[in-house]
Amino acid sequence: MHQPSEMANLMNGMYAYNLQIKQQIMNGEIPASMPLDLMKLHSAEMSNSHARTPVWNSFVNVFIESQQAVTDTLSNVELKERYNATINNCLACHKTECTGPIPKIRKLLIQ
Ligand code: HEC
Repeated sequence: MHQPSEMANLMNGMYAYNLQIKQQIMNGEIPASMPLDLMKLHSAEMSNSHARTPVWNSFVNVFIESQQAVTDTLSNVELKERYNATINNCLACHKTECTGPIPKIRKLLIQ
């Protein structure tokens, strides 16, 4: 059996968290804070076919900042807009770095 990489586990945790806060945002609730350490994106080991390419490097910090902005209570940007911006940053990196989960990630967007 193929063991999921440390990065795959982190990504699945990010997926589960965003699915949870999508529901909270749609219910008009305050989204839970991120339980994962996103700085691990810089160090987690990836499966063989993946690496920290220039594209990865160009997207990772933009993504982390947008994910953190979702729970920034002082922001004056609409919550749904901040949330969807985060998901679009997931998709931006996935477009070249890991295309398989794109349909699943797209379902996280709030219509
Ligand atoms: C900076 C680039 C980047 C960003 C941003 C990113 N991903 Fe990923 N994602 C990857 C790469 C590369 C992999 C493959 C990792 C591996 O196989 O080790 C991956 C893997 C995954 C997987 C598959 C895990 C598995 O079981 O194999 C899912 C699901 C996923 N990402 C969801 C997300 C979600 C949801 C977000 C946003 C909250 C996100 N990703 C943000 C690059 C990114």
